Amino acid sequence: MSLRALFALPLLCAACSDRPSFDEDDIRRATLGTGLPPGFLLGTATASHQIEGGTSNDWSAWEQGSFPDGQPHIRDGSVSGDAAGAWERFEVDLGLMRALGASAYRFSLEWSRLQPARGQWDEDALARYREQARQLREAGITPLVTLYHFTLPAWVADAGGWENPATLDDFEAYAARIARELGGDVDWWCTVNEPNVLAVFGYLDGVWPPGKKDTKAMATALSHLIEAHARAARQLRALDTADADGDGHATRVGLAHHVRIFQPATGSTADVTAAGLTDAFFNESVPQALRTGRIRLSVPAQVSIDREVDGLEGSSDYLGINYYSRDFVRQDFGEASLSNQYVPDGRPVNDLGWDIYPEGLFLFLRRFRDMGIPLLVTENGMADASGTRRPDYLRAHVYAVEQAVKEGVDVRGYFHWSLMDNFEWAEGFTPRFGLFRVDFASPDKARVPTPAVETFQDVARNLGLTPAP
Ligand code: FCB
Repeated sequence: MSLRALFALPLLCAACSDRPSFDEDDIRRATLGTGLPPGFLLGTATASHQIEGGTSNDWSAWEQGSFPDGQPHIRDGSVSGDAAGAWERFEVDLGLMRALGASAYRFSLEWSRLQPARGQWDEDALARYREQARQLREAGITPLVTLYHFTLPAWVADAGGWENPATLDDFEAYAARIARELGGDVDWWCTVNEPNVLAVFGYLDGVWPPGKKDTKAMATALSHLIEAHARAARQLRALDTADADGDGHATRVGLAHHVRIFQPATGSTADVTAAGLTDAFFNESVPQALRTGRIRLSVPAQVSIDREVDGLEGSSDYLGINYYSRDFVRQDFGEASLSNQYVPDGRPVNDLGWDIYPEGLFLFLRRFRDMGIPLLVTENGMADASGTRRPDYLRAHVYAVEQAVKEGVDVRGYFHWSLMDNFEWAEGFTPRFGLFRVDFASPDKARVPTPAVETFQDVARNLGLTPAP
């Protein structure tokens, strides 16, 4: 991530001090699940483009291309294609969730499938998603539906995507239609997945569509994504008035915010400043906007966005936290970005080289308790092709949630990324995040349990849930 964009942000390094360290024996001995509150949503998370197959959107177009140096946009040269074939296999996947003993499922709707052209709706696709939500509820699994998880219909992308303010109108209209169509079966909504990740990868680093390296475009897109959340929340609350699960709440609206610990490499002022600036931009811009109702993004001589957004304050009933990893940050004047993010040699990492640091999840849950709204861990997981290291990762992160709950933080759910292996964006199919391994080459895209399925089932049982035999 480029630090050029961050100069005008206030220095803040909530992650720099007071670092806890979990004891591995404590994690091993813990009866995980017993420390979670009643009604806790224990589930898995997926996204349409990554699992469904047959989707046609800005990402499927991007997958065909390459960078100026000839490298394909997707590192392993793959395209999403049939993905995990989940569009045709929902009933199979529902069986996997039942086997896990899950009480919730976070999945996303493919906007391009639902609205292939402006003003044109695919009634069959709407019915299919409605049916999925209904089947989940009948199985005692609470659906949490994401409206936007990184993929835009081509007609929206071609019109300028998130840089174009008119996209907000289109997104609001889409949210309104979905609220009417699915509101009877869905109470929990996630408007937008990871605005900060999309802004940085798509508009600053240029490694995701639309492939821009433009600070101004990055800030504009980020500000529109935050506003899109407020607009969708307004529609969902107005139009989804059916309390599907009878708990007194017809709608619970939030967004999923990706957070990473940025740890200064040393105690030097330069490293601490670099880590603090990165933290302020990446981890705090979105929650700060939600807290205040005001979007503030500023890059001297390039961008100054400071605007109040109607309906943004109070637009969230919960904050979703997507947490995976920690980066070490070293100030580096030789780098165009002025900072260097890395993982020191010898640290435990996942298959993508991401540092494994469960304490970070605890730190963020504790940090965001001041939002004054419930928190959900909307994503957490590890790329592990062997499948043998995921059980410890899962245990350590559920332990982190329980530690936060013990301190009084209102955490209502944990969604493991992911139910099954899938198309991991610019990385392609190589990373394996699934609790169930997918044999992509087999005609039925066979799902095979990895060892962490048992770990998940243990947590579910301790929570009072019943994995299906
Ligand atoms: C998150 C994304 C999700 C998945 C995981 C590994 O940033 O929301 O789609 O790719 O990372």
